[in-house]
Amino acid sequence: MACHLLIPAAGSGKRMGGDRNKLLIPLLEKPILQWTLEAAIASEAIAWIGVMAQPHDYPEFQKIFNRLHTTKPIRLIQGGATRQASVFNGLKALPTEGERVLIHDGARCLATPELFDRCDASLQTMPGFIAAVPVKDTIKIVNGKTIVDTPDRDRLWAAQTPQGFQVDLLKNAHLKAMELGWEVTDDAALFEKVGLPVQIVMGEETNLKVTTPQDLAIAEFILKSRS
Ligand code: C5P
Repeated sequence: MACHLLIPAAGSGKRMGGDRNKLLIPLLEKPILQWTLEAAIASEAIAWIGVMAQPHDYPEFQKIFNRLHTTKPIRLIQGGATRQASVFNGLKALPTEGERVLIHDGARCLATPELFDRCDASLQTMPGFIAAVPVKDTIKIVNGKTIVDTPDRDRLWAAQTPQGFQVDLLKNAHLKAMELGWEVTDDAALFEKVGLPVQIVMGEETNLKVTTPQDLAIAEFILKSRS
């Protein structure tokens, strides 16, 4: 059975400091979103790709799609006001065949095709998982500016995407979230809230989410070192 991929790409890019979607910013002469799509296209596991976008970005996104060399279907899906709403729209637009879905942020443009393949392989045996890496820093919980706790670092992992789920289970978790007004920043959190197990798959240290101008410079350095 096919694995489908949903790419939330409907953000605004405020933290990048610009007035347009950060996924359109050039990174080594290609828009960020194009790097993300090219990695997904090169993954053997993925058969279909849906990109959630704001309608004002459709023309620019379509230009990127036209530049890609692939026979894989790539569809534009209207994004929502939050990442969570964008993913929910994507889930409603999935092709009916296929039980597994990967969700991968458009802004994580350095994920490798091998990571997508590994994630899909994991999804064959787990109801839900996330790519994640062990945390290197000591993390503090604070109240205002006062530290209230220092969690044991051995138990802390930094969440990445791809995140993968059985489609029906994730749809049900999103419906429950709508009903009860839960707001979360990733899909694993919804699985956790409905009491479903989510496992960790080893992510990639270089799989950063391009959020700030500094991230852009780091992403450029990593891409140059790969070529
Ligand atoms: O803002 P942040 O980088 O955390 O967003 C993560 C991903 O979610 C980005 O790829 C962004 O385009 C996407 N997003 C979305 N719909 C929104 C807000 C963010 O698809 N309303």
